[in-house]
Amino acid sequence: MRYRHKGMTLQIESTYEAISQTAARMLVAQITLKNDSVIGLPTGSTPEGMYAYLVKMAEEHIVDFRDVVTFNLDEYLNIASDDPQSYTYYMHKHLFDQVNLQAKNTHIPSGTHSNADEVCQAYDISIFQHGKIDMQILGIGNNGHIGFNEPDIKFEAGTHLVTLDAETIRANARFFKTAQEVPKEAISIGIRNIMQAKKVVLIASGEGKAEIVKQMLFGPITPKVPASILQLHNDVTILLDQAAAKEILPLLSIQ
Ligand code: F6R
Repeated sequence: MRYRHKGMTLQIESTYEAISQTAARMLVAQITLKNDSVIGLPTGSTPEGMYAYLVKMAEEHIVDFRDVVTFNLDEYLNIASDDPQSYTYYMHKHLFDQVNLQAKNTHIPSGTHSNADEVCQAYDISIFQHGKIDMQILGIGNNGHIGFNEPDIKFEAGTHLVTLDAETIRANARFFKTAQEVPKEAISIGIRNIMQAKKVVLIASGEGKAEIVKQMLFGPITPKVPASILQLHNDVTILLDQAAAKEILPLLSIQ
């Protein structure tokens, strides 16, 4: 089911599989329209299904990644890129090593460089040199973060060093043996970078996201819920499975 809300498109499908497939198809359509598209990519549990569909569609020769350029949202600080907990490792596992993306076209902030500020500046310049991000894919944290733009972020921020919120550390502890092992800092692109993207697609799945999805879409625009800024972007699609849409369904009317 598709709705319009405050200028955004909300697409609600019954299952996680269905929203993963829709997200993959939107990316494939983008790459078909412009083979050298600049794509912004997330990590985390939510996009795993989308990546699986993208790999499948590449195998079926429906999409060709040869000229596609990618910029990842974020990377933990002080985790080596070949560490299985790094987002670099994640991207190689789920996408980069399975499709014909060229290494020179993929970008992830370095979490191990001695000067994080330099990394941030260089990342912003590199995005700028590639023109605008054509399609930015996002997940959403339980605290409303997008990328690692945690509550109370400055909306005008570009790529920056982030201290992770206690809620994010708690949520991401599921990927580590203990919560103590979760890095406390990361490098993330900023809200400004996200807002400059031509198109934004945000995916949320599961009942655990239902309340923050409601705040993002129906609450005030506030740095306390960083994703609420998307209410001001002029080309946003929010893909929700039924569980993530649970709190907003009663508030929507079919268009
Ligand atoms: C990941 C990222 C985060 C995640 C968010 C949701 O690169 O920037 O904003 O999208 O934490 O994570 P999952 O999908 O694991 O619930």
